[in-house]
Amino acid sequence: MIPLASPDIRDEDIAAAVKVMRSGMLVQGPEVARLEAEFGLFTGAAHAVAASNGTATLQLALRALGIGPGDEVMVPALSYIATANVVELAGATPVFVDVQERTFNIDPAKIEAALTPRTRAILPVHEFGLCCDIREVMEIARRHQLKVIEDAACALGAYDGGQHAGTFGDVGSFSLHPRKAISCGEGGVCLTKDGALAARLRILRNHGVDVIDGLMEFVDAGFNFRLTDFQAALVHSQLLRIQETLQKKKALAEVYYNEIKHEGLLLPLVPEGKDHSWQTFHLLLGEGLDQQKVLHTLRAQGVGSNYGAQCMPAQRYFLGKYGHDSAQQFPHAYRAWTRGVAVPLYEKLSAGDIRKIASILNSLA
Ligand SMILES: Cc1ncc(COP(=O)(O)O)c(C=O)c1O
Repeated sequence: MIPLASPDIRDEDIAAAVKVMRSGMLVQGPEVARLEAEFGLFTGAAHAVAASNGTATLQLALRALGIGPGDEVMVPALSYIATANVVELAGATPVFVDVQERTFNIDPAKIEAALTPRTRAILPVHEFGLCCDIREVMEIARRHQLKVIEDAACALGAYDGGQHAGTFGDVGSFSLHPRKAISCGEGGVCLTKDGALAARLRILRNHGVDVIDGLMEFVDAGFNFRLTDFQAALVHSQLLRIQETLQKKKALAEVYYNEIKHEGLLLPLVPEGKDHSWQTFHLLLGEGLDQQKVLHTLRAQGVGSNYGAQCMPAQRYFLGKYGHDSAQQFPHAYRAWTRGVAVPLYEKLSAGDIRKIASILNSLA
């Protein structure tokens, strides 16, 4: 069986985590600070703030930017459900915008039509590890004085015009879940260029505590979204070899491009000027192929596969609350959800594994 995803945890990563466990300093200590420093260096961000997962970092961003009841936040209709859940959890309203047909990212051309006087922010996603048209999103946000929170959960190692994902908006949010390029099980990091905002994110992740004149003061009703120090050590050790990981994934993606010949399979489109991080290799099925049948065939032949992402407004909770007709209103997101298939792509696989998967894909009927 080739699973859909499998983190590359090496002996040195485990040793780094065990060392911290033996130290007795378990939560948000020097290893978290070291991870944040390294994350900032790698992405080019002025400030990095680690937290317990990539949903928590989105929640922190919304709270720190003061987004709450009465506000609307624009989100792409296609993403992992956390992107829309966090807007609901903040008491705000998600306004869904369809994605582009082939990049699966929010369509900037559709953002302005969805603006209302209550719109406070745009929460674009760099879906599957490909940067959305973030420069256009930033320009729209500037014109309408909106905040931008980039959901870069899948985008460590993704660039637009040489600039790292998550460094364009007010806050960029990353996940360290096992399907991501580096992982400590649960974990997240958010980035910002604004020092005051970084301070606020730090206060909110730790029960609202600040240190004023050397004394602890509870200045807000914060969360407990701290990351443990042994998780930080586990993932920091992987971050040190991130270039190697990204190169390997890029080379494996090339094998898919060279080997997949089936006319009913649409390969991912990577526009000029963007570097994909290849968190997911996502195929779109042509009319002749049935998604359930394809998933079943792949799994029966030992290849882990799944939907790529969800059309969020079509999920039971959002459908019940907002009643959108997703197939009509968000046709590209709906198509990607109902006709998309994610296949394995991670650094532990060999070119031979990818060739084997491609040959199974080529024989789909
Ligand atoms: C686009 C997107 N946003 C948010 C998340 C949430 O991240 P986490 O699982 O670390 O909470 C994920 C996780 O897969 C994701 O893919």
